[in-house]
Amino acid sequence: MDKYLIDGGGPLSGEITVARAKNAVLPLLAAAVMAEGSVALHKCPPIADVSNMLNILRTLNCRVTHSKDLDIVIDAGEADGEEIPADLARELRSSIFLLGPILGRFKRARAAYPGGCDIGFRPIDLHLKGLRDLNVKITEEYGGIVCDGRDMRGAEILLEIPSVGATENLMMAAALALGSSVIRNAAKEPEILDLQRLLNAMGGRVSGAGTSTIKIEGVAKLSGAEYTPMPDRIEAGTFMLACAIAGGKITLHEANCEHLFPLTAKLRDSGVKVICGENSLTVIGEGRPLSCAAMETQPYPGFPTDLQAPFLSLQAVSDGVCVIRENLFETRFKHVPELVKMGADITVRDRTAVVRGVRSLRGAQVAAHELRGGAALTIAAIAARGATVLDGVRHIERGYYRFEERLSALGVRITRI
Ligand code: EPZ
Repeated sequence: MDKYLIDGGGPLSGEITVARAKNAVLPLLAAAVMAEGSVALHKCPPIADVSNMLNILRTLNCRVTHSKDLDIVIDAGEADGEEIPADLARELRSSIFLLGPILGRFKRARAAYPGGCDIGFRPIDLHLKGLRDLNVKITEEYGGIVCDGRDMRGAEILLEIPSVGATENLMMAAALALGSSVIRNAAKEPEILDLQRLLNAMGGRVSGAGTSTIKIEGVAKLSGAEYTPMPDRIEAGTFMLACAIAGGKITLHEANCEHLFPLTAKLRDSGVKVICGENSLTVIGEGRPLSCAAMETQPYPGFPTDLQAPFLSLQAVSDGVCVIRENLFETRFKHVPELVKMGADITVRDRTAVVRGVRSLRGAQVAAHELRGGAALTIAAIAARGATVLDGVRHIERGYYRFEERLSALGVRITRI
């Protein structure tokens, strides 16, 4: 039952509510380790990445519950672990941002190097450089690192690259370090502002999230709090692109138009109508071929790398030739050979894809190997002529909550087989 059978063609119609953001929930869960009381997070989707993170918190002796109505409660009062378990960290590379919270709370931490994955090398040099700036002593041992944060103190940190994970890791470490810290060239993704809000609700003193300069006043301890994470802009963008490629009209409730502007601007340039409401967004896709739009991924507020693959599927059936450039990760075109099996005309050189739009794609037997490439193949299958069998649904379910149910609600003929 790890496959989708998708019968392509036909416009989408209907409305759904956007789930809460995977890439906000994960750092918020990490921050909960620092609380000497309970942290409650509402509306958290039970997707695989969230479950993996909860398992890691359990190994740190946190008491964790995830209720049917999507409330997560973490009680880190008795937490005492120092190590991010290597086997679980391999499943969830972004768990490296647990180093900061563990160091903040326990002043010592151990982790294996997370290693590369299907989208790139995933180095952690910026995380380690920033922790050293905070006077954390880091020694390397067989395949891993040992951090001693007993003399941790505030510092001025400059990130070479506005890394999302490094920004989050260092915000959390500095929140419980003695003195003031500044992170310059910080990532500006909306998920960073969510983390600032929770840290401040816990008694932290953080400001500037959403800009490239974040200030943190260290405090002695952090207490419990409750918070509802932001809507998932990448999930919402994926549904927008499904409507753009298949045609039709859908409404996404609880979508944040501001967060989605980088994609909205691109879609409007291509001829797709996007109507922003107070707390919703409506997409009207004419279903006719759009003009191929060149695009380069950039840190927020540029075009998000997580929507590059779904956007590439739309370009594959647009008019003309365009170039897509992936600036964030080394190998984020691994799913392209599967699109070519469906009739796409795309050539990839290093981080650049040249797309020659075709009239339509055809159903085929294809396989997903990672999360966003899997979402891209799903979108391509929705618009393709004929049936597609898509293997590797487990990769898609890492980041999309009840994906086939919600696509079905929008009129997609999709079943799990
Ligand atoms: C976060 O990953 C997201 N994951 C990713 O989403 C997203 O693609 C990425 O940010 C960029 O927006 C979560 O939030 C859980 P980065 P992260 O550090 O923090 C380089 C998805 O599909 N870099 O901002 O790992 C790195 O190699 C996932 O939901 C270093 O060189 O991304 C990359 O080229 C995939 N050294 C660039 O920075 C470092 O120490 C951006 O990576 C850290 C990063």
